Amino acid sequence: MLEIKDVTISYKERPTVKDFSLSLKQGKICSIVGESGSGKTTVIRAVLGLLAGGGKVTKGDILFEGKSLLSNTKEQWRKLRGTDISMIFQDSGAMTNQTRIIGNQFVEYIRTHKNMTKKDAWDMGIQMLERMRLPSGDNIMKSYPFQLSGGMRQRVGIAMAMTFQPKLLLADEPTSALDVTTQAQIVRQMMELRDEYRTSIIVVTHNLGVAAYMADAIIVMKNGKIVDAGDREQILNHSQSDYTRNLLDAVPSLGGVRYV
Ligand SMILES: Nc1ncnc2c1ncn2[C@@H]1O[C@H](COP(=O)(O)OP(=O)(O)O)[C@@H](O)[C@H]1O
Ligand SMILES: [Mg+2]
Repeated sequence: MLEIKDVTISYKERPTVKDFSLSLKQGKICSIVGESGSGKTTVIRAVLGLLAGGGKVTKGDILFEGKSLLSNTKEQWRKLRGTDISMIFQDSGAMTNQTRIIGNQFVEYIRTHKNMTKKDAWDMGIQMLERMRLPSGDNIMKSYPFQLSGGMRQRVGIAMAMTFQPKLLLADEPTSALDVTTQAQIVRQMMELRDEYRTSIIVVTHNLGVAAYMADAIIVMKNGKIVDAGDREQILNHSQSDYTRNLLDAVPSLGGVRYV
């Protein structure tokens, strides 16, 4: 469903990401792992056509359901983003407006993609929150982002991102701001979404423990290049790469259990 083919991405003259490839099937989870600055965010922002700072794909192609995303017009992006492809961030709370209640932001998000009344959108928001096992959705809708815990905010972010049952979910360090127990809950929730909706997920993380737990395939990046890639089992147990093995040795535990 998603093919990233030999992509090079540059902000200025010097490429930041070089010859990056990834192939993802419906219902699969791929994790991109690597230290800070290795280019992980750059890759997934390129998939969503949201490169900051004048970043450009200078080589290769990105295909979603067989069609190149690189030639998309603004209108095509508007239809695709938030519906077929959506994204969650490290701290969904920080992405939202602190001065407006969650509900108004949720309603606005829904109504940019779907023609419905504010009342219906509000109810749809509550329904989504309850699906994320957030009780008393109405209270959450009436809260300001800062009134919720980091874990709750992240669940709200996931609920929003899942509203239109995207085919592809891009998650940039979705658990990095959370304590380990909450990390484990969020990771399990993302896996349940995959099982329930057959959503394909790319999860970017510097935590190989998260990747080891949830991913079908793992790509290890360093300095803008892929240094290792393969299915989960191969990367965790049979990697030939010293870099990957060092990362594995440094893996913290997730929810009290080490998964590698
Ligand atoms: N908005 C930007 N403008 C210019 N260069 C950027 C921008 N964002 C990222 N970069 C460059 O890309 C490199 C990789 O960044 P990033 O993709 O955010 O890495 P990661 O997500 O793995 O930490 C950075 O070291 C920086 O040099
Ligand atoms: Mg990043």
